[in-house]
Amino acid sequence: MRELMVRGLTLESEGVLAVDLVDPAGAGLPDWAPGAHVDLVVSDGSVRQYSLCGTPGGQSLTIAVRHETAGRGGSDWVHRTVRPGDRVGVRGVKNHFALEDAPEVVLIAGGVGITPLLPMAEELARSGRTWRLAYVGRGAAGMPFLGRVRALGPAAVVHETAVSGRPSTEDLLAGVTSQTLVYVCGPASLIEAVEKALDADGLGDRLRAEYFEAPDLEVAEPGSFTLKLERSGLELAVPAGRSALEVVTEAGVEVLSDCEEGICGSCDTRVLAGEVDHRDHVLTRTEKAANNCMMLCVSRALGPRLVIDL
Ligand code: FES
Repeated sequence: MRELMVRGLTLESEGVLAVDLVDPAGAGLPDWAPGAHVDLVVSDGSVRQYSLCGTPGGQSLTIAVRHETAGRGGSDWVHRTVRPGDRVGVRGVKNHFALEDAPEVVLIAGGVGITPLLPMAEELARSGRTWRLAYVGRGAAGMPFLGRVRALGPAAVVHETAVSGRPSTEDLLAGVTSQTLVYVCGPASLIEAVEKALDADGLGDRLRAEYFEAPDLEVAEPGSFTLKLERSGLELAVPAGRSALEVVTEAGVEVLSDCEEGICGSCDTRVLAGEVDHRDHVLTRTEKAANNCMMLCVSRALGPRLVIDL
């Protein structure tokens, strides 16, 4: 973790504040690539993940924070309290949503989900690759970075649903083939609609998604399972209703963790045996199918026992 200084704040749209962070002593900042995020330490010491939305290689790191009045308080603190010159704790850079090679890339952003996709679109435009971006929001006033999106030219299409209605999933995915990678960031409803449509066409493995909300954990909670920690020589019972991360940490085994909601990737742990019930939004479908790692904070066992590399 390092302390960075807030160099500037820009109201990018209604309720979305861009926070520009620099090293207070002018030291260099970590390299990053589109899709990367940092962890911001908020007022109560907990952390929130924010995608980087500036330009890689620049002199600052920029995040965009949507004011969630019904949230856990992190965004409210940023909007109401953080001011230029303040120091904030930042961890990272991490990237679980990196731009991969593909003959064609389709980017679909819902609202503030534009933040990781905008640097991707700018890089794709610079590199001359085949791509397009659909940016969906209720209306221009609440859609951050519209100027930068429009500067990308005709490959970037803005859909204001209050003006022209919601684009259909078929329209958003028109022409997608097994050669296309589809990156989606936004609310769960948007991601799930895209996922369903791709699945129906047998293209589910082309999806790369980043959620802004934690996955819904109200789904069926399987019973307890046994977790064997190979290196520590421990065998622990994980009861229904408790996470593997809680049980492992309680047993005195240190595991890196941040969000505890399956969205940041910090608690990624190697799996040596057993079948994982993946409940995170970090791993791709292919990575989940490989069954060789898991997010301990949310994922569980499909069978009675898992052996992990701890
Ligand atoms: S702590 Fe963030 S994915 Fe587990």
